[in-house]
Amino acid sequence: MVKNKEILISPSILSADFTRLGEEVRAVEAAGADWLHIDVMDGHFVPNITIGPMVVAAVKKITRIPLDVHLMISNADQFLEDFREAGADILTVHPEATNHLHRTLSRIRELGMKAGAALNPSTGLEAVRYVLEELDVIMLMTVNPGFPGQSFINSVLPKVRALRDLIDEVGYEILIEVDGGVNPNTAPELADRGADVFVAGSAVFGHPPYDRIIRTLRVPRSST
Ligand code: DX5
Ligand code: ZN
Repeated sequence: MVKNKEILISPSILSADFTRLGEEVRAVEAAGADWLHIDVMDGHFVPNITIGPMVVAAVKKITRIPLDVHLMISNADQFLEDFREAGADILTVHPEATNHLHRTLSRIRELGMKAGAALNPSTGLEAVRYVLEELDVIMLMTVNPGFPGQSFINSVLPKVRALRDLIDEVGYEILIEVDGGVNPNTAPELADRGADVFVAGSAVFGHPPYDRIIRTLRVPRSST
């Protein structure tokens, strides 16, 4: 995946008005969103239930930006094909939710999607160190997954820099995505530490107009 000069913004529809989901998706696309983040939760891996492949398929029909699908489900392997068919472009799984992460990531790519791994705040970089070749995206969670609008966990910040260093050292084109509590206050310190993509739910959908908030979140990248 080609590294972009600018930070990419991936609004999470979890904070959208579900009674007007189509309009909301079109509005963030028109406002400059780069990806659209879709949070899939099963009430088992995380303490909340959201949406599945049918909603992904519906959203696919009305937008051209890549669908960034974040699986917070226990039996991720069982559903990879379903999400591909629904139109996912980037499919991200949690290492704890699959028995053989390497196999899962290669399968995601084999199906024609970009492969991502999401690390919970307490999960170390060791979880992905030996599967970097299979990854297009590493998502660092800065909240415990499950709900929008939670407070940013500051103690994860050093992990962003450590991951940047690891990726630069191996020289792969892996994007660092940060998910949870990203807002105009936390965005600059994440960019400084080397993040590439910001997921933002409440910060975007709670603060229209969307073009302004997306512009604000797209802070300058660090030059280091
Ligand atoms: C958390 C989800 C996030 C969430 C982000 O479990 O993975 O994508 O929607 O919401 P905010 O940006 O409000 O923290
Ligand atoms: Zn997410």
